[in-house]
Amino acid sequence: MADQDGEPPKLFDLCVFTFVQSKELSETVIQELSQNLAKYGAEVIQPKRDGSLPLAAATHIVSNTIDFPQYTEATSMMIPVVKSNWIQASLAKNKQAQLRPYSPDPRMIFSDVVLSCADIPESDKESIIGATMAMGGTESNNLTKIVTHICALSTDHPKCQMALQKNLKCKIVLPHWFDDCFKLGKRIDPAPYLLPDPEILRAHPGGNIPIPSSQHLQGATSARPDFIPTPVDSEAESRPKLTIFQEKKVMLSSDLSISARLKDIVKELISDGGGQLTDYVEDCDWFICHYRDGDNYVRAAHASKPIGNLSWLYHLITHNAWTTPTHRLLHYPIPRHGIPGFQDMRIAVSNYGGEARIYLENLITASGATYTKTMKADNTHLITARANSEKCDAARDWNISMANHLWIEESYAKCEMQSLTVSKYTHFPQRTNLGEVIGQTMFDVDKLQALYYPGGRPKKPASASKRKRKTLEGAEEDADADSSANAASRHTRKDFDVMQDDDAEAADYAVEESGGPRPAKRRATSFATPAREQRHVRTGKENETPSTVSSSSRSAKEKARSRLSGLVDDIALYEKEKKRIPKDGQPWGGKRAADLIEKKHLNRRSVSSPAPPSDDHDDEAAPVAKRPAKKTKPTLKQIEARVILTGFKRWVNDKHKEDADRRKLREMGISVVSDGNVCDYLVAPQLVRTVKFLRNLSRGATVVSSSWIETCLDTGEVPPPTDYLLKDKENEQKMGLKLQTSVARAAANKGRLLRGLPIYCTASIKNGTESYKVIAEANGAQFLVYGPRSGSTIKPTDPDEDPEGPDPVYLLSTANPEEKKLWKKFEDMARQGNMEPRVVASDWLLDVVMRQELTFDTKYLVTNFFNSA
Ligand SMILES: *[C@@H]1O[C@H](CO)[C@@H](O)[C@H](O)[C@H]1NC(C)=O
Ligand SMILES: *[C@@H]1O[C@H](CO)[C@@H](O)[C@H](O)[C@H]1NC(C)=O
Ligand SMILES: *[C@@H]1O[C@H](CO)[C@@H](O)[C@H](O)[C@H]1NC(C)=O
Ligand SMILES: *[C@@H]1O[C@H](CO)[C@@H](O)[C@H](O)[C@H]1NC(C)=O
Ligand SMILES: *[C@@H]1O[C@H](CO)[C@@H](O)[C@H](O)[C@H]1NC(C)=O
Repeated sequence: MADQDGEPPKLFDLCVFTFVQSKELSETVIQELSQNLAKYGAEVIQPKRDGSLPLAAATHIVSNTIDFPQYTEATSMMIPVVKSNWIQASLAKNKQAQLRPYSPDPRMIFSDVVLSCADIPESDKESIIGATMAMGGTESNNLTKIVTHICALSTDHPKCQMALQKNLKCKIVLPHWFDDCFKLGKRIDPAPYLLPDPEILRAHPGGNIPIPSSQHLQGATSARPDFIPTPVDSEAESRPKLTIFQEKKVMLSSDLSISARLKDIVKELISDGGGQLTDYVEDCDWFICHYRDGDNYVRAAHASKPIGNLSWLYHLITHNAWTTPTHRLLHYPIPRHGIPGFQDMRIAVSNYGGEARIYLENLITASGATYTKTMKADNTHLITARANSEKCDAARDWNISMANHLWIEESYAKCEMQSLTVSKYTHFPQRTNLGEVIGQTMFDVDKLQALYYPGGRPKKPASASKRKRKTLEGAEEDADADSSANAASRHTRKDFDVMQDDDAEAADYAVEESGGPRPAKRRATSFATPAREQRHVRTGKENETPSTVSSSSRSAKEKARSRLSGLVDDIALYEKEKKRIPKDGQPWGGKRAADLIEKKHLNRRSVSSPAPPSDDHDDEAAPVAKRPAKKTKPTLKQIEARVILTGFKRWVNDKHKEDADRRKLREMGISVVSDGNVCDYLVAPQLVRTVKFLRNLSRGATVVSSSWIETCLDTGEVPPPTDYLLKDKENEQKMGLKLQTSVARAAANKGRLLRGLPIYCTASIKNGTESYKVIAEANGAQFLVYGPRSGSTIKPTDPDEDPEGPDPVYLLSTANPEEKKLWKKFEDMARQGNMEPRVVASDWLLDVVMRQELTFDTKYLVTNFFNSA
């Protein structure tokens, strides 16, 4: 079904691309891609006259090489630089692909790696994750479908067991693989490192696996020529010689989580680069530690030695270039107990994507707060780049503080929680995604000193480090110089990567989902309605890497995506509403509820004020909510309610009375809208399974009893409609549901209960297909009529690729002989497409919609239903 709210957003709406022409990306290809991008809503801007890139305006830079002058500046501004095949990948999926895997930076050897650690000791874990991240990878604590590598010492861990059982595609590798790649600065074939029987360990049959020691590494290193096609010593193939450590003494503090193996590697890298490790703080030039405390830290700080943490060290190694550790918030050791005041904070993030999101996660954690992937009612803060998103709406509803990232950055930089009353923290320029100015906050060094190493000599930058700065980071310095000039125009830049929001949620959800209203899986691709797809892309999310791309994960991604398009928040909202008003009954969902409650509190006396129309469960409703109030009796001024009546007996066969009553209602501020319009209240005498009822219920309308309208007409007064919520015990019991629960669920489902779920219906079904179509589509299903001449419309997928098993596909049917003949054909089609056929009575659909919960019971199968009925 088509969206009713105008132009559907296109895939690249709000994106501004600029291209870097190169040997690897020719003019012709650029032109071709530009046309494609434009077709999907993007703007493409040309380099400036002097050949430089319009960084201030671009949201994405497409380049197949990092060999262009502004690369460093672009990355420091966190403007994503992606290879051109990112565009194709996005188009192929009809949603923006994740950015990291498409980095053209050859140093990001782990860019498409999603790592999950299994039975790895904590200290190793930290260092492996740190190194992986430094080279472009991502980490997922839970085993999700997007995980590409599990790092483990044995296959005993449940994660490994699960991967093996479910035949997941991810590789189970020894930590040595990461170490060796890190050391080489190259990604080597993991085959010799693969569990359960890794070749590199076979050389040491007696070697104990549980404690990984450097022996394994030594063994692996010396044995490497046997396993690695390109010898390590080949200069061309291994990491280029580091120059950054020349004549430098580096001290690794004992508080670091660095494994013996990794420490050896680091040591080797440093000494190969002409530096050395030292154990004496007095001797060292650079001090690497995890926490901002301890004698050594204080002494190093007092001696004005550059101090950074492992991330900083990895950055130096990866980039072979100097950067001041206090220039990047995540390069400096963390405060052991966080920043005062953040300990009890639960912070969620919205509208930031890619690097920016990962950075914020780390910053939140480092500040001592808890980062949450999803936002629930118990969150204290939402950090967002723009003031609009579903999370933002929910934050407003739940009284969760909203701020942009400057708040957390400056709090961390100043080592003190900044007040949200400072307006810059809550300022959200209309057309700007503040992601564009992330990562530019530096430490307040005086504050660091005052708090963590009071006294000592006045801080003076070490001259040696100044000298270092010149070479490779020249570009970065240019960036600094240029940044104030850019700042002025920067806020013209449009959304940065909004769609990348909530990666992590998507990822997690893909595997862990259980219970609750489930978004439907989709596999029958020929059903896809691009408009809807794209619409959800706006808030939806992609988090998969090329190595896991397959049609198999599509269903999970689908789930994830619909999940992201608001269900998480909405369900949580619903839960909260339930908690909020447990006693006097009605668990309404969403803003409507919040508004009602507020009204109740503020306004309990003026009982004649019904709630303002809701506008957030239904995009279509938004403009209507702003309708000016009608000029009526003064006491009724505020009243505004659009109602749809179903089964209203009073007017049966009395057009005259109907017209008069409608006028009367309108004077009271109640407008009886005709079919096809949006309404706030569905007025019904009882629970009925009519199209009108189900369709409006699906849209989240509040269902009130006809007696409300009767009372209005009889008394000329408008009591709060919420006092007249429809109660129909008898039918509720008959149908086995609670109406107000359904209403609340409907509000949370936002018409997406059946999103993407393929529902076929026999052409000859009793009463016609039309009403089922309307009901199914009101809930986002893909509705198709199925007849004797229908071809196959399910695109087959490889069953082995879907560890979750086949997705269901439904056929609504009755048991008449003509329809019966179709069953086998339908079932064959489904099975061929690796889907599970369910031929059901239409009551299944009606019940599911009435309950607003996607469930299934074999009693609905036609074979059961019509036999017993
Ligand atoms: C990981 O999975 C566990 C159990 O399945 C769940 O409780 C937890 O919230 C998940 N962790 C994250 C970070 O989502
Ligand atoms: C370095 O510190 C930052 C916080 O300042 C933290 O997020 C990061 O994980 C640390 N890096 C390592 C490798 O420990
Ligand atoms: C909202 O939160 C603020 C503090 O965060 C608190 O002062 C205020 O009372 C809350 N308002 C409501 C309606 O809960
Ligand atoms: C309510 O049902 C009527 C009749 O089917 C329909 O025209 C109207 O659009 C529905 N309202 C909503 C909000 O879906
Ligand atoms: C068809 O419609 C009639 C009334 O119009 C109704 O009684 C009957 O239950 C409907 N049949 C089905 C299968 O929905």
